[in-house]
Amino acid sequence: MTPIEAFDMVLFGGTGDLVMRKLLPALYHQHQDGNLPTAGRIICLGRSVADTSAYLSKAHSLAQGYLGKHYNDADWQSFAERISYLKVDATIPEEFQDLADVLNEFPNRVRVFYLSTAPDLFAPISKSLAGVGLNQGNARVVLEKPLGHDLESSNKINDEVGEHFEEHQIYRIDHYLGKEPVLNLIALRFANTLLEPLWRREWIRDVQITVTEQVGVETRADFYDKAGALRDMIQNHLLQLLTIVAMEPPASIDADAVRDEKLKILRALKPLTPETVLTNVVRGQYRAGAVSAKPVPGYLEEPGVPANSRTETFVALKAEIQTWRWAGVPFFLRTGKRLQERLAEIVINFREAPHSIFGRNTTPNRLVIQLQPDESVRLYLMAKEPGNQFRLRPVHLDLDFKEFFESRSPEAYERLLMDVIRGDLSLFVRRDEQRAAWKWVEPILEAWENSLDAPKPYTAGTWGPAASSALLSREGVSWHEEG
Ligand code: BG6
Repeated sequence: MTPIEAFDMVLFGGTGDLVMRKLLPALYHQHQDGNLPTAGRIICLGRSVADTSAYLSKAHSLAQGYLGKHYNDADWQSFAERISYLKVDATIPEEFQDLADVLNEFPNRVRVFYLSTAPDLFAPISKSLAGVGLNQGNARVVLEKPLGHDLESSNKINDEVGEHFEEHQIYRIDHYLGKEPVLNLIALRFANTLLEPLWRREWIRDVQITVTEQVGVETRADFYDKAGALRDMIQNHLLQLLTIVAMEPPASIDADAVRDEKLKILRALKPLTPETVLTNVVRGQYRAGAVSAKPVPGYLEEPGVPANSRTETFVALKAEIQTWRWAGVPFFLRTGKRLQERLAEIVINFREAPHSIFGRNTTPNRLVIQLQPDESVRLYLMAKEPGNQFRLRPVHLDLDFKEFFESRSPEAYERLLMDVIRGDLSLFVRRDEQRAAWKWVEPILEAWENSLDAPKPYTAGTWGPAASSALLSREGVSWHEEG
């Protein structure tokens, strides 16, 4: 792997939630593990804090909470020496000169501009960076999701950012691609011969991709009510996971070889029509209930949510991939907030044995790749129970990475930030992929826009509206936790 060069990492939105909760802790971990070169600076930008010392005291108190048992005073002190803060209003081009002055102390370093801001600032920030000469070949710009709110707005942002940065300088981040089990799925599929012959319609009955959360909208109503679960999770995280499950073996692990294969899958998704949106897509919104025995309010009672909001907090849908490998295999995607458990998993359900010599006493094989809360790969096989009778039961073979490798599994953002510094684009979303994903979800957005129906209510703490189970039962299957 390419060693990390000296770098300057500039975090726009430096006082925001993502920087405090994820990015600084990720960089701290990499610092603690000795992976950052001494000459690596982190420059945080914001408007609300006065100076570096005020910024560091805020970052310090938050980091202690977010880092938990990994927090260590001495490590934090040495990490904090890398950090400086600049009061820059990202909407005022003249203020970028201060940033240029700081960066120009080391003109040849890798420069990463992480835009952890609202997407409507991506274009003006890119323009202002170019205005002070900060878009040279050593610059990389990282764009956080959501990139736009539909195909047209995302095209516009991409065009405008593209006026100042080349495509190879643009890192569209989808942190689900940095999660270790997702990378392990790539290893499992393409470093072993065992699965490949079975990884197709002849042997797989259906695929389920679930990302559920217990948390509600929290303090993000302003953003979330305009986005909803389809834009926030399905258009990016879940469709990206689908591409990793479904793509053909790439010729190499090079960024474009992998992204070409992912793109082919996105383009092969069967387009939805207003009619199939009604039958294949379920949207829901949570009502008051209890999550882990704690009473919680409904979405419409959350602070900042308009009383008549029709924003979906849950989506379940059936996708189909029109290729020889996948024709006829339903891919069920499901995500939502305020559900019974925090769970992210990919379930591959294999077909029943073509002929059972044991009567009906068998359950089809199942492969479960869990991303959260545990990181594991579990293969369910049928085995005989000990004893005189030939009684069968599913047992599982587990790949428990934590136990086997005995090393800390890095958070997605750690891996992805290091990839940006290294210049490795493999796990970042290329523009055409993003366009294809928006194009596929757009008929859903339109159908909802034109529909008089409200999202289906579900009680907080359940697995979502009943229509989600019905979507699968119509096809003779059930969600993993149901059967
Ligand atoms: C973000 C979404 O991209 O992913 C959030 O905006 C969601 O709404 C989060 O909570 C989930 O990420 P993770 O890694 O906690 O599963």
